[in-house]
Amino acid sequence: MWKIPLFKPDYSAKERNALLKVFDEGWLAMGKYTSRFEGEFSKYLGGNVESAAVSSCTAALHIALMAANVGKGDEVLIPALTFVADLNVVMMVGAKPVTVDVASLTDWNMSFDDFFRKITPKTKAAIVVHFAGYPFDPRITELCQKKKIILIEDCAHAIGASIGGKMCGTLGDMAAFSFYANKNLAVGEGGMFVSPVTGFAGKARLLRSHGMTALSLERNLGKLISYDVRTPGLNYRISEINSAIGLEQLKKLDKGIQKRKKLVDKYIFFLSRHRSSAALTIPFVQYPENVQPAFHIFPALLPENIERKEFMEHLQSAGIQSSIHYPAFRHFSGYKKQIKDKTPLADAISSRAVTLPLYPGMSHQDVEYICKSIAAFFNK
Ligand SMILES: Cc1ncc(COP(=O)(O)O)c(C=O)c1O
Repeated sequence: MWKIPLFKPDYSAKERNALLKVFDEGWLAMGKYTSRFEGEFSKYLGGNVESAAVSSCTAALHIALMAANVGKGDEVLIPALTFVADLNVVMMVGAKPVTVDVASLTDWNMSFDDFFRKITPKTKAAIVVHFAGYPFDPRITELCQKKKIILIEDCAHAIGASIGGKMCGTLGDMAAFSFYANKNLAVGEGGMFVSPVTGFAGKARLLRSHGMTALSLERNLGKLISYDVRTPGLNYRISEINSAIGLEQLKKLDKGIQKRKKLVDKYIFFLSRHRSSAALTIPFVQYPENVQPAFHIFPALLPENIERKEFMEHLQSAGIQSSIHYPAFRHFSGYKKQIKDKTPLADAISSRAVTLPLYPGMSHQDVEYICKSIAAFFNK
């Protein structure tokens, strides 16, 4: 339907063969592929973490809050500009979400100053996002350590990103990754809970599988005949099919990120060549030298006087899919009254942001076509 969709998974015969192999072998849940995927994932992050594969990033975030005993009476700092999963999981454990503004109209990560301002004696944890795959302000790690705030990284956008050689996902107490269909590493539905703290990882393993001490594979292999239940838990497990696809996707992740970087460079080049750069504000064009972004999405900010719907419809008529990352929480009917924190910059971005297509299979001609369509809109 789209000439250029917002994203396309980067699949080949490797992923197809991997999933067929799981079928042929006949063991579909919590087996060798999941355990290999966890091992390879920890290695990819530098080796000093434990990984537990789960059914989604949301599951990993929920597990992280439960593992940290966050609940009623606690406050959790979250970005004002993020996917609603960060807000939902805080509500689910009965804690109070406190939203933090972005740093600026060109840095859509959490503002260090606003983060600092919104800490109270009740702040027990913080969920940070590395927006679009650009790592957050690392001073937040030090601040959380100093204030004894549990730091949970939402790395849904940031698989493969790093600061000073340290991978995102290893910069806090716990981290959650997404392998949803549109992510840099896509398996359909899936996620990873990661922690450098053995205690948290152990709790996560219990929480993702009914609080049980033994997996069905161990019982099937005759290693254990029964199990104990140590804590109330959930079923947040991943399937072997998804883990097998994940193993293949992990192998091509860095190459995909390099392709994404080239496409982002092309966007910036063509936008200025077609004289639409003055109209659009592109965030994260500048980032510190020691930062390696993951280039997950390509967001842009429209001028105040432009009707976003009209702009997106113009792209649609040219066969270009676009999206919004993210609508403000208070625009959702279920969250009209709950969110009262002042976050003026995030609010402005929420009403003017538009996300353009970005995926490794895109060509430089695709980028030029999109930039020409944008220029045509502004030159109308
Ligand atoms: C920033 C952010 N956090 C969390 C999630 C939730 O991920 P999942 O769909 O794997 O639960 C997403 C998904 O798009 C996301 O973008």
